[in-house]
Amino acid sequence: MASLELKGVRKSFGSTLILEDVSLTLDAREFVAFLGPSGSGKSTLLRIIAGLETADAGEVWLESFRIDPLPPGERGVAMVFQHYALYPHMSVRENMAFGLRNARVPKDEIERRIADAARVLEIEPLLDRKPGEMSGGQRQRVAIGRALVKEPKLFLLDEPLSNLDAALRLRTRVELAQLKQRVDAAVIMVTHDQAEAMTLADRIVVINDRTIQQVGPPMEIYNRPANVFVAQFVGSPAMTLVPAQLAENGDYATLKIGDGTVVETRVPRDRLPPSAHFRLGLRPEAVRVVGSGEATSKAKVELVERLGERTLVYARLGDGQPITAEDQRDSRLKIGDEIALRIDGAAAHVFDADGAGYHRTGA
Ligand SMILES: Nc1ncnc2c1ncn2[C@@H]1O[C@H](COP(=O)(O)OP(=O)(O)O)[C@@H](O)[C@H]1O
Ligand SMILES: [Mg+2]
Repeated sequence: MASLELKGVRKSFGSTLILEDVSLTLDAREFVAFLGPSGSGKSTLLRIIAGLETADAGEVWLESFRIDPLPPGERGVAMVFQHYALYPHMSVRENMAFGLRNARVPKDEIERRIADAARVLEIEPLLDRKPGEMSGGQRQRVAIGRALVKEPKLFLLDEPLSNLDAALRLRTRVELAQLKQRVDAAVIMVTHDQAEAMTLADRIVVINDRTIQQVGPPMEIYNRPANVFVAQFVGSPAMTLVPAQLAENGDYATLKIGDGTVVETRVPRDRLPPSAHFRLGLRPEAVRVVGSGEATSKAKVELVERLGERTLVYARLGDGQPITAEDQRDSRLKIGDEIALRIDGAAAHVFDADGAGYHRTGA
């Protein structure tokens, strides 16, 4: 059974259209990330699902019931806000019980749910503390606990890790990944952080420009980006895009770029629209620093970033085109060096004039 279903959701604030024709189906117990830049409407969509905003058009269904006419408390949905606020004068236990008491859940049932949630979140020792006596990560877990005790069919988490410092973010990310194994509900997490979406989600929904750009498992989004936006938004550093011309006939697209390099891709030529003008998409790992014997191109180093497990080299091709390449981890390159690059056509992507992406078959 499908968990959540959105059908043609549209939303404006005043005369500004924020979301247009958003349709999506979640599987049971699926963990989905809404990924997009700040201001792309992710929180608005979450709030429409939760019932905190009303859509101008469209329907929201949860487990075969239409829920968009229902008030928030009757939807079977629990939301953890970006700026979660715990009641400071209440203990963790009281914070978690508060909503349930208001909903007139019987006392022993409230206790059972709190005990269950505390066990799942490993916050049992904290139950009698006040929010002021806990770390940011612990408070975040309590905020999730407060949603958990509602035993919802669907969890909505709005940027759950954004208030945490870097180390805690990573640890809480691991905890969230474990949590998803233990919770019998679908989860939607909003994030602008592609690493969070990549590591946690079963599927990523990329949102930009008022609408869904692509839906798919993380590696599909990474390997087969539907368009230029997705290609550049997912993956760090961003994919290099190089203006290119279709060079010759053959089963696969062969493209020539500005410095004269000819790149034989594995993108079937007959998929491409009839045009000569494209962009070649290259992730850093598709452009290696090599000895001159293996080179396809020459470049000049502008910046070297040593990341430990790999070295990123920001360089310019002969025609001035910026390109991001990878060198071995013990790279000795420095700014200004003239280097030889090998562009791996088999790993290259092609984008047409409208920005649509084309990829090698099979991968
Ligand atoms: N209540 C509101 N009234 C007017 N504009 C709003 C309101 N809420 C959000 N917006 C606008 O809608 C757009 C999307 O906001 P939001 O959904 O918060 O984006 P995101 O969560 O992706 O950062 C932004 O331009 C924001 O300023
Ligand atoms: Mg937001």
